Amino acid sequence: MSTGLIGRLVRTKPSRLTTAARLIPSRFTASVTEPESKSPSGGGGGKASNFKTFQIYRWNPDNPSKPELQDYKIDLKDCGPMVLDALIKIKNEMDPSLTFRRSCREGICGSCAMNIDGCNGLACLTKIEEGAKETTITPLPHMFVIKDLVVDMTNFYNQYKSIEPWLKRKNPASEPGKEILQSKKDRAKLDGMYECILCACCSTSCPSYWWNPESYLGPAALLHANRWISDSRDEYTKERLEAIDDEFKLYRCHTILNCARACPKGLNPGKQIAHIKQLQR
Ligand code: SF4
Ligand code: SF4
Ligand code: FES
Repeated sequence: MSTGLIGRLVRTKPSRLTTAARLIPSRFTASVTEPESKSPSGGGGGKASNFKTFQIYRWNPDNPSKPELQDYKIDLKDCGPMVLDALIKIKNEMDPSLTFRRSCREGICGSCAMNIDGCNGLACLTKIEEGAKETTITPLPHMFVIKDLVVDMTNFYNQYKSIEPWLKRKNPASEPGKEILQSKKDRAKLDGMYECILCACCSTSCPSYWWNPESYLGPAALLHANRWISDSRDEYTKERLEAIDDEFKLYRCHTILNCARACPKGLNPGKQIAHIKQLQR
């Protein structure tokens, strides 16, 4: 299947273009259409209509012309408060071809990650900003687009898999079939890491990841590497550290901390990466 390229163009030097830079021209050239809302525009519950425009990135692999931003005007009076509510309303009532991922609508599955008004975030946790200004929604930056807001996560998941995100032991548990216990203090060392939902908001906001998406592991995978390095029950700490002691896999992080700003769970992958670097010394 062919894929639309919103990012990852950085591999073809010298065009180190960011998503924003690539999209702005298409915004001007986009043929903007406004499907009519089928929702009632007045009456019902006595609340006044409150229309807002959502500009949404569209690209269809079956009709691979230039990507465009398409406008959808909806009445917030008849819509839930979150950006995901608006997307579901558009898909259900105006344009069933609009494609995006979502599952839990609770900030748990990580599947509704996208770029909303220039910031990566979860559509289900992002409130619709009321007011005249339109809201622009694009896929996660610097990822191959499969369709509309759906990006190809294969590289991201392979990088996660590469850090072997499971408990590894050299010695069997003292009592077969029983848990391997951990003190409260050791368990607390995993705080700030175990909460990660692998949404990729951090990695796709990291400039180092944009430039080296295949060779730099990125903040999400490295946060998980540190999660297992820090686990008192794991017996492969040395091997885990050696496996990522690499100029590209680890040391492309320059502590810019875009990752921490982007994380919808309030985590700080940059801090976890700094911890790994400290252990490497
Ligand atoms: S701190 Fe490191 S991982 Fe986070 S955005 Fe900066 S370079 Fe990327
Ligand atoms: S660290 Fe935060 S932004 Fe990054 S994948 Fe995990 S939950 Fe998402
Ligand atoms: S739908 Fe699961 S995190 Fe948004």
